[in-house]
Amino acid sequence: MCGIVAYLGNKSAYPIMIKGLQRLEYRGYDSAGVALLNGSLTIIRRKGKVKDLEDFAVGKNLSGTVGIGHTRWATHGKPDDRNAHPHLSGNGRLTLVHNGIIENYDTLKKALEKLGHVFHSETDTEVLVHLIEEIQTRDNLVIEEAVRVALQKVVGAYAIVVIDKEDPDKLVAARKASPLVIGIGTDDFYIASDATPIVEYTKKVVYLNDEEIAVVKKDGSLQIFTISNEMQKPHIQQLDMELERLEKEGFDYFMLKEIHEQPRTIADGMRGRMNAEEGWIRLGGVAEYVNKMSKAQRFIIVACGTSWHAGLIAEYLFEDLARIPVEVEYASEFRYRNPIITENDVVIALSQSGETADTMAALEMAKEKGALIYGLVNVVGSSIARLTDAGSYIHAGPEIGVASTKAFTGQLTLLTLMALKLAYLKGTITNSYFHELLTELENIPAKIGKILQNAEQIEYIAGEFKGASNALYLGRGYNFPVALEGALKLKEISYIHAEGYPAAEMKHGPIALIDENMPVIVIANNKSAYEKIVSNIQEVKARRGVVIAIVEEGDEVIKHIADYTIEIPATEEPLSPLLSVIPLQLFAYYIAILRGCNVDQPRNLAKSVTVE
Ligand code: F6R
Repeated sequence: MCGIVAYLGNKSAYPIMIKGLQRLEYRGYDSAGVALLNGSLTIIRRKGKVKDLEDFAVGKNLSGTVGIGHTRWATHGKPDDRNAHPHLSGNGRLTLVHNGIIENYDTLKKALEKLGHVFHSETDTEVLVHLIEEIQTRDNLVIEEAVRVALQKVVGAYAIVVIDKEDPDKLVAARKASPLVIGIGTDDFYIASDATPIVEYTKKVVYLNDEEIAVVKKDGSLQIFTISNEMQKPHIQQLDMELERLEKEGFDYFMLKEIHEQPRTIADGMRGRMNAEEGWIRLGGVAEYVNKMSKAQRFIIVACGTSWHAGLIAEYLFEDLARIPVEVEYASEFRYRNPIITENDVVIALSQSGETADTMAALEMAKEKGALIYGLVNVVGSSIARLTDAGSYIHAGPEIGVASTKAFTGQLTLLTLMALKLAYLKGTITNSYFHELLTELENIPAKIGKILQNAEQIEYIAGEFKGASNALYLGRGYNFPVALEGALKLKEISYIHAEGYPAAEMKHGPIALIDENMPVIVIANNKSAYEKIVSNIQEVKARRGVVIAIVEEGDEVIKHIADYTIEIPATEEPLSPLLSVIPLQLFAYYIAILRGCNVDQPRNLAKSVTVE
C-alpha cells in the first residue's frame, strides 16, 4: 500500500523518482507526487497515476539532486490532489512521504491544532509532519532527532522519508511494520518501499528493521539507530534480482507476461530442490525443522486472498499425502479471535509480497505463543521472510500485475514439495506413488506450456461472455479452491461479480441464480469425483445455465453436455490445480481486456496490503 522512493546524490533526482514510482505503482495508484530540493522545495502532487503527475510536471522547475516521491493507495482522505503526498510542515521547512497508518492521528491532530497548527488535508501523514515540526521547533533539534522523538508518540505503522530544507545534505528514513530498503550507490543513496526502483542503480542494500531510523548524507555516510536511540550496524546485503524481469518483455500487460512465465517460474521453484529420477526432495527450511514438522499436532496456514486459496489446496495436500491435520485461516480473522495455538503447532504463512499486515500480525501472535512459524514468500528479504523461524522462497521473480498468478502456482509447487517430503518421511504414501508424483511434477511446466498455446480458444470464449454481469465457478476436492481463485481473478480485474462454490453445495442455494444469462465455469478435470461433477453439470444444464467446463484432454462425455470445453492435459489429482487454474487466469484476463479494464492496476486495489 503506497510506494515510496527517495534519492540523495549528484544525479538529477526527478527522473529517478518517476521511474521508481512507475515500478512501485502496483502498490497504489490513487495519486502521486514528488518533492525536490534545489535551494528551495518544489512539491508537485497530482490525483491519478504517475503518468498524470508527469504530464502535470511539464514546464515546472524539476531540478534538484535530493528528492522524495510517493504513489498513494488512499486510507485517510479521498484520492485527490490535496491528500496526495509529499506533505509539507506548517513552516514550509519539512516535507515527508509516508506508507502506513498513524492510528492515533486524530488525538495528535487535536493537540497540534490547539498549538496553532493548521491542516490542509485529511491525511494522517500531514499530522505526522506537523508533529515533527512542532518537536523540532520547540526543542531546537536536528531533523533525525526530531523524527525519533516524534515517532515515540506515534501508534501505528509507517515507512517515511523526510527532507529538511535547512539541512539539505541528508535524508531521514524510518520504518515500523511497513517496508523500506536503502540502496547504497557509489556516491549516492536510493530509498524505496521495495528493491524494484533500486536494482537498476545498485545491488548493495540494507533492509531497515522495525523502529529503526536511517540518516543518509551527501558525504556518503549511512547511520542507523533505533527509536530508543541505540546505534545499529548496517547489515549490507546483495540483491538477487534481474532488471529484465521487471520489464514487460513484449507483453501488453504484466499480468499476461506473468501468466506466460509460469512454466519457467514453476521450474525455478523446483530447481535444486528435487530430483525425480533419484527420488529426493531437499528444502532448506524444512530440513532444519523436519522432526518438529513431521510430529506437529497440526499445521495452521494463515494467508489472505489468493495466497489463502493456495492454503486451502495445501490443506488437501498435507492431509491427503502426509496425514497432517491442517487448518486454513484468513489471517485477518485469526489474529483477532484468540485462537488456541500450542508449541506443537506449526504456523505457515503464505504471502507473495511478504508484507501483508494481517499475515504478519497473525504470525507475530503465533510466535509469541511458541508455535514454529514458517514462511512461504516470494519477495526476498521481505518482512515475513525476516520474521519467521524458517521458510522457503517461491522464486517466482517480481510479480508486478496486481492480480496474483505466478506466485499462486509457485506457492502450490512448494507446498506440494513440502507435503511430499513429509509424506515420504512419515511413510504415509508408498514409494511408488512418491516417485510418480515427483516425476509428474517435473512434467507440469511443459503441460502448462501446452495450455498456454490454447490461449486463442480461451480468448474466443471470453469474448462470448464479456457482457456477463455474474458468473459462478464450481469445483470439487483439490479443485474447489481453484473455483474460488477463478472467481476472485474474474471479479478483481473485470469487475464482473463472481462466486466460487464447491460443486455439490450448488444445490444448497446458488442453483437459484442459474438461468440462460449465467455462465457457470466448472472445473471438471478431477478423476476421483468425475461422475459427480458430470451430474453437477447436468443440473446446471437442466436449469438452462451456460456451462464452460475445464476438462482433461480427450474427455468425450462432458464435451457433449457443456456449451464450451477447454481441454487441459491429464495429471495426477494432487497436482491438478497447477493446470486447472491456468485457463481461469487467461479467461479472466481476456474478459477484462475486452471490457477495457486496466488489468495490471484494477480499481481500488493495491498489490501489497501493508495496512489492516
Ligand atoms: C489477488 C491478490 C490478493 C493477494 C492478497 C495477499 O489476485 O493478489 O488477493 O493474494 O492481498 O497478498 P500476499 O500474498 O502478498 O500476502
